[in-house]
Amino acid sequence: MKEIKILDKNFREMIPESVVTKRIGELAVMINNDYSEKEAIFLGILDGAFLFAAELYKRIDILSRISFVKLASYQGTRTTGTVRELIGLNEDITGKEIVVIEDVADTGHTLNMIIGELRKRKAGKVRIATLLYKPDSFQYKDTIKPDYVGFEIDNNFVVGYGLDYNGYGRNLPAIYTLI
Ligand code: IMP
Ligand code: MG
Repeated sequence: MKEIKILDKNFREMIPESVVTKRIGELAVMINNDYSEKEAIFLGILDGAFLFAAELYKRIDILSRISFVKLASYQGTRTTGTVRELIGLNEDITGKEIVVIEDVADTGHTLNMIIGELRKRKAGKVRIATLLYKPDSFQYKDTIKPDYVGFEIDNNFVVGYGLDYNGYGRNLPAIYTLI
């Protein structure tokens, strides 16, 4: 099995590139079927989802647009602690159907925050496409159900295909897991 080192950590290949791209093709087929009658806005979450979003979106053949947003963290007041703000979403999404594109649903805090923000902005139906899903870590099973999941994985740290370790490893074309 292929092993690599990033900074101080070793990783082993877990999902080969060909398997990743084949699965993304399957997700695109599902989305094309589900949205054949309606328009959608795809919303990629930067930075991690950029490769998944590109690979997925080039296979989408319905009437649609894509935007990218970022979660900016900054220190708030002492009472609020770290505040995370959704930046980059400047258009009116009132009543629009949204497909959120995420790299990995881990605890689900990110998705929960994004969905909350989209609701505040009166979006229509929101669906979630995530390349990876860690069900053992996900804390919002009662309220959020990822609609299009590439791979369910165990609760291990992974890199590659857009996912990073301290900023490195996003360019790896396969998914690697920490050993
Ligand atoms: P959540 O808010 O806990 O669901 O985590 C979501 C974000 O944490 C993702 O968008 C990733 O940027 C990052 N993340 C979670 N798990 C991993 C991992 O295994 N490798 C790299 N990044 C991760
Ligand atoms: Mg990240």
